[in-house]
Amino acid sequence: MKRGIFISIEGPDGSGKSTQIEYIKEFLQSRNMEVLFTREPGGTQIGERIREILLDKNCSEMGPMTEALLYAASRAQHVSQVIKPALAAGKVVVCDRFVDSSMAYQGFGRKLGEAVDIINVYAINGCMPDVTFLLKVDPDIGTGRIHTKRMEKEDRMDMEKAAFHQDVYRGYLELESRYPDRIVGIDASRSIEDIKSDILTKLEEVVKGVTG
Ligand code: ADP
Ligand code: TYD
Repeated sequence: MKRGIFISIEGPDGSGKSTQIEYIKEFLQSRNMEVLFTREPGGTQIGERIREILLDKNCSEMGPMTEALLYAASRAQHVSQVIKPALAAGKVVVCDRFVDSSMAYQGFGRKLGEAVDIINVYAINGCMPDVTFLLKVDPDIGTGRIHTKRMEKEDRMDMEKAAFHQDVYRGYLELESRYPDRIVGIDASRSIEDIKSDILTKLEEVVKGVTG
């Protein structure tokens, strides 16, 4: 079967994922690669509706397991409707957050642990990223970046206490050591240019490895 490249970008809120995705976009398009940019939760009509519930500040009574299942439901739809067909068509899929977000936020942040891995076996149905860029920056710095720019857009997850975001971050670091072949950790406390340079160097390697 023809197979594209699946890339995910992870990190705490405000770590610079959207900023870096723009550079990834420029890089891949300059090489005339067929690219699909997508995000989680969301990426499909159904997923975007689930996203609204997940990020709605008025849904403060949502339980941890409901939350984990909704993120996984959005993912299941995304994988089957969008990601798998795009990869089968040989495209490069770049996803802003994927299953590692669930492991970090629900597994470590909400302390659901292995239940999150189990639920997501069904959601991803064998579809894992070839490479995951993890933007590593202390969540207090990420949160600070968001607060300066978009206080009015704060969502249900952003509202969580600093301790929750620290647990999530520890989760990400644990995942990085658990999956060293897939997860590429990037020091995201540096300048936008330095981060971009590291990501594009690695991306060049990945693209060469696949296209020869
Ligand atoms: P995310 O998508 O991970 O939430 P964004 O890319 O939206 O993060 O960045 C959040 C804010 O921080 C934006 O205002 C962005 O301009 C700023 N920003 C991004 N990268 C850096 C960086 N390396 N240093 C300082 N500010 C940054
Ligand atoms: P989003 O605005 O896309 O992320 P960011 O704030 O980094 O720009 O918001 C998505 C939120 O959902 C974010 O706080 C992380 C959280 N999330 C989970 O808790 N679990 C998941 O599986 C996913 C995909 C996201």
